[in-house]
Amino acid sequence: MLLEGIHSNAVQSLSQAGFEQIEQIPTALAGPALAEAVADAHFLGIRSRTQVSAEVLASSPQLRAVGCFCIGVNQVALDAAKLGGIPVFNAPFSNTRSVAELVVAEAIMLLRDIPQKNADAHRGKWTKSATGAHEVRGKALGILGYGHIGSQVGVLAESLGMRVFFYDVEPKLALGNATQVPNLPALLRAVDVVTLHVPESPATRGMFGAQEIGYMRDGASVINASRGNVVDVDALVAALDAGKLSGAALDVFPEEPASNDVVFDSPLRRFDNVILTPHVGGSTVEAQASIGYEVAEKLVRFSNTGATLGAVNFPQVSLPAHRGTYRLLHIHRNQPGILAAVNAVFSARGINIQGESLQTDPAVGYAVVDFDIEQGFDLEQLEALKRIDGTLRAQILTR
Ligand code: NAI
Repeated sequence: MLLEGIHSNAVQSLSQAGFEQIEQIPTALAGPALAEAVADAHFLGIRSRTQVSAEVLASSPQLRAVGCFCIGVNQVALDAAKLGGIPVFNAPFSNTRSVAELVVAEAIMLLRDIPQKNADAHRGKWTKSATGAHEVRGKALGILGYGHIGSQVGVLAESLGMRVFFYDVEPKLALGNATQVPNLPALLRAVDVVTLHVPESPATRGMFGAQEIGYMRDGASVINASRGNVVDVDALVAALDAGKLSGAALDVFPEEPASNDVVFDSPLRRFDNVILTPHVGGSTVEAQASIGYEVAEKLVRFSNTGATLGAVNFPQVSLPAHRGTYRLLHIHRNQPGILAAVNAVFSARGINIQGESLQTDPAVGYAVVDFDIEQGFDLEQLEALKRIDGTLRAQILTR
């Protein structure tokens, strides 16, 4: 059951993998309509608007996995899903390139003073001048947070001839000719444009404020497409008013409108030299297509092999395909003795185990057992496995 108009790449991947009866609904569902839609589903695909509560999970007894065809997963009751033996997958990196492209484009716009010139032209003012307009070639770009997005930005910026410096709390492999600097002040002092790509955390909240702006070169500019509260907006406003910074580009804000019908309010609206975008850094047709493929593939792998790599709420197990054996997926509360009890069911029937793996988190354990099919296996054995105290779910993959 795919809700919310998930990209056709997902349908293609699922049907190529042998999924039958793929039902699609273009909107989000809630309440009884959602419960009815998921009642017989083995797999559920949603985006950000469908709330998959514990009650919804309870109304879908056959559900094996949930795919969030988006980045965020807080619309799903993750712990309830875990205790129901249901892994939840998402697509954390499918829009990395989209964000990186926007950032590089904004660096060019800011160095050319285009936001101001654009605003002037819209009002009939002709500001043809080379003053304050620079090529990005040879300029220094500072990247704060050299993870998936930050490192992509660095690669793209170097291809335009920028000199790339980054600061990250972790030692990172520098791509291309990028240089890791030892601390944030060193980064800010060295660059013409700084772009922020850190995650939201207590350590990053407000980490770019008056003091950090003070380290920057006069006339430098700032780009933030990470999280709104990484930047102290009041400090940024003061620096723009003072002319300390020549411009900024913001895609994220401490408070963002809940929908397109709500007015966007920000003290930054009055600055012509600031690019404001409505949190669209990762919102492209290509990112949606890649999300469709990425999440569908995770569902297919889980369905075929039991692999949970990339699940956000589950012990991570990566498994090769099982050839010539059956495979038991046994999800249980993390308590002593379960693996011994699982093994006892096999040994009592003289069934040879070919391979076994167990991963746990504090709440649940996930055991995967490959076993010979020659000795036979019947439903009574599966029932015996399900009866083991602490079992949340047990299932056999037969191919
Ligand atoms: P990531 O986890 O791959 O990279 C984050 C990097 O920041 C890591 O290398 C980490 O070591 C570093 N870091 C963490 N704390 C730090 C600190 N205090 N100082 C310096 N470095 C620190 O994350 P990814 O995927 O690159 O995403 C980065 C940001 O972009 C996130 O905040 C994410 O929410 C945001 N994002 C925004 C989108 C948009 O539409 N504007 C779309 C996708 C992501």
